[in-house]
Amino acid sequence: MSKKNHVDIISEDNAKPFQPPKIFKEKALVNDEKPYREAEKDRLAFWAKKADNLQWSKKWEQVLDDSNPPYFKWFVNGKLNVSANCLDRHVENGLSDKKAILFEGEEGDTISLTYAKLLKEVNKFCNVLSDLGVARGDAVTIWMPMIPEAVVAMLACTRIGAVHSVVFGGFSPDALKDRILDSRSKLLVTADGANRKGKVLPMKGMAEEALQLCPSIEKVVIVERAGSDYEVTEGRDLLWKDLMKNADENFSPAEMDAEDPLFILYSSGTTGKPKGILHTTAGYLVGVNTTHRYVFDHHEDDIYWCTADIGWVTGHSYIVYGPLSNGSTVFIYEGTPDYPNRDRFWELIEKYKITVFYTAPTAIRSFMRWGNHFPAGHDLSSLRLLGSVGEPINPEAWLWYHEHIGKTKCPIVDTWWQTETGMIMITPLPGLTPLKPGSATKAFPGIDVDVVDDQGYSTGPGQRGFLVIKTPWPAMLRTLYEDHERYEHTYWKQYPGLYFTGDGAWKDSDGYLWIMGRVDDVLNVSGHRIGTMEVESALVDHQSVAEAAVIGKVHEIKGHAITAFVTLKEGVDGSEELLKELKTHVGKKIGAIARPEEIFFTYELPKTRSGKIMRRLLRDIAEQRDLGDVTTLMDPQVVKAIKNNYSDK
Ligand code: PRX
Repeated sequence: MSKKNHVDIISEDNAKPFQPPKIFKEKALVNDEKPYREAEKDRLAFWAKKADNLQWSKKWEQVLDDSNPPYFKWFVNGKLNVSANCLDRHVENGLSDKKAILFEGEEGDTISLTYAKLLKEVNKFCNVLSDLGVARGDAVTIWMPMIPEAVVAMLACTRIGAVHSVVFGGFSPDALKDRILDSRSKLLVTADGANRKGKVLPMKGMAEEALQLCPSIEKVVIVERAGSDYEVTEGRDLLWKDLMKNADENFSPAEMDAEDPLFILYSSGTTGKPKGILHTTAGYLVGVNTTHRYVFDHHEDDIYWCTADIGWVTGHSYIVYGPLSNGSTVFIYEGTPDYPNRDRFWELIEKYKITVFYTAPTAIRSFMRWGNHFPAGHDLSSLRLLGSVGEPINPEAWLWYHEHIGKTKCPIVDTWWQTETGMIMITPLPGLTPLKPGSATKAFPGIDVDVVDDQGYSTGPGQRGFLVIKTPWPAMLRTLYEDHERYEHTYWKQYPGLYFTGDGAWKDSDGYLWIMGRVDDVLNVSGHRIGTMEVESALVDHQSVAEAAVIGKVHEIKGHAITAFVTLKEGVDGSEELLKELKTHVGKKIGAIARPEEIFFTYELPKTRSGKIMRRLLRDIAEQRDLGDVTTLMDPQVVKAIKNNYSDK
């Protein structure tokens, strides 16, 4: 962010805040300031009390060990098991017959698993994993569609003490390969195929492309979901249904240390290589358990639906570990909102009587564009609370969501957090916080966030700055997998002693936080994080490309659209075919989500005299802004040429 920006005064949003509806407030778990007061008085005592909501086989001796920053330990020497907290204790507490998972497939097939049944399935898969040689500390990669078996596999890993690495099903085989190699997984759990808008995505066939280059994988377990053909490697490939048929229904949960690794989740950063974000056991569970309960105002009879994919952190924290550790009933849908029709989600809300619905602004903007008649055609009266996550929600989308989905009676929790934070960090509490559309409001109790200027000083109201976290929090990442140096450099070097989020933000005079999006080279495309460098690396991997620069162009639905400027090698012509080929190439290297929307060929990229690519100028060109002073460029003519070329398109 430039020096000029950080002192800009932004006009405050003076619109009258939305108060929690009276009836909601009366029944809400939190309807007064008590949690904030408690946490302000003694933050660690607040978290210690929240940790008492979990079942421990041995109580911790110290809430936080901060003697070796930025390596923090929470609930030191405590022992527990995550799956026992998500399953066994509910079964022991009389919730055996309560539905844990309600599932509907794209074609309308359904599965419902009670807590007792889910526990049995998890135990069976633990025995399967154990027989296949998976032990405590081993890494297991899960690459699956949105089906209940994915949850079973995750929970079974936690029960054994294995570390799962769930890879988003939409990533390419190449991206899967990189993640398997980095985590050195022994086992892959996947499916024959995934149902995608009436077609079948041949997952196992695609996984095979990765597996050829992944010597660490000893066994592959395949769930037969979509009836897709695939080749079998004898001795390595095994069917889920065969393995589960006679597996024992009992398995004792491993006693894990509070700081034992729980999972690795890869996320994009500012280099070409994704970061393996490492979360550990107790702090993570305390964080997601507490935030799920308070932010989503957990009530026993809720039917809770978070539309994220299990391959992202939102799926980990708020489909699996948060809600299940609270004994909630979680609805899972396999498909997309527009298949077979654009009212699919509303049909499901009506059918399952969903009470809490958590989705992303990009989806909300699509719903808006598709038209009000789709939600209007369904009874959405079961809804009592709505949530938003993944990117800033524009006030227009917020208001539409409030009126057309929530029928003005549902509070909206706009939740800011990251793969790294593990848990929701900035959010309203729905029975208490007056809402301002577009603001994620305030830090959750026990969380210290601030906005600082480029010197690290707290900014005043209306002043743009950088969002930082001032003190450790339970679900924080502990490091980047096998890359401590990058962990320290990425998050802790910018402002010594403060965690740097990579987001720009400002506070208004009521202390409300307004998030402005990433200030680093990370794009947010449809709520998914993609590093510009990742896409650039994929482009220069193509034989015709000499150099590439990637930017995010503001996009009405997706937030950002990937736009690439490419210089070709000597003698290569920039044809329409090559343009298509490059888009496909990026899709192949990373996945469809990273496919550039637009690619422009240019004879040179705009660079400073020291050779740094001026992405800001490319953004200005793409968004048709005035370019201002370009004299510091090595070749000022180059922007003129790109600009002309751009406006010709
Ligand atoms: O820029 C912020 C944006 O998403 C980033 C984190 O992305 P990821 O690790 O993929 O996790 C997404 C789901 C938690 C943040 O740095 N972001 C997330 N939620 C919000 C948001 N920006 C504004 N408002 C939000 N509610």
